Amino acid sequence: MNFQQFVVAIDGLAASGKSTIAIAVARHFSWERLDSGSFYRFVTLYFLKNRINWKDEYALKRELVGLRFDYRPPDHYLEGVVVTELLRSPEIEKYVSEVAKIPVVREKVNSFLREYATGKKIVVEGRDIGTVVFPEAQVKIFLVAREEIRAQRRAAQNKRLPFPRSDAEAEENIRLRDSIDSTRDVAPTRPAEDAVIIDTSSLSLDETIDLVIKLIEERMS
Ligand code: DC
Repeated sequence: MNFQQFVVAIDGLAASGKSTIAIAVARHFSWERLDSGSFYRFVTLYFLKNRINWKDEYALKRELVGLRFDYRPPDHYLEGVVVTELLRSPEIEKYVSEVAKIPVVREKVNSFLREYATGKKIVVEGRDIGTVVFPEAQVKIFLVAREEIRAQRRAAQNKRLPFPRSDAEAEENIRLRDSIDSTRDVAPTRPAEDAVIIDTSSLSLDETIDLVIKLIEERMS
């Protein structure tokens, strides 16, 4: 990590509030924010669109060579078309945890994230940012919240997207993804030993944001 770089890693399970907090904190400091999950979603879209069988390891390695991330913050482009919103669709959510389990996919995403963050002050959110991608991050936060609270938040988020889902469907998807993301062999979701764990179940959004900002300010001084 070069000396100008300052990384805030925000990890946590699905719908634990990572994105909302990361956006607010990055805005507060006028830093960039990088959503690592969106890259796994992008790879999933790329595989589905190009009918790539990700269970065929040989084909996968070959196909991954041709995959280029076209990320112009905050948007992802595929063949020149913005696909940012499409990455939130139920179709992608159905497969993304399977795709994110594949080691070569993780290597591809991680090397992009590390290169992108070089020399930047940046808030990076995901599942393994503090443990694997940036183990030397200056600040590591791990967000937790009770399952039903996360499901309500995700259902509310989905209602603002063109892919509305019932609370029950949102809850089921979260439960399934959490279980795959937390039990996989490579980079399972878990807090780094030096992460600060924040339970947001009974905190307001502003309280959580203030807490994270204070932690960053302490680390910077
Ligand atoms: O944060 P999200 O829900 O957009 O992430 C989508 C999926 O990507 C999630 O189910 C697990 C995977 N992911 C991961 O394995 N590692 C990360 N650092 C970020 C996301």
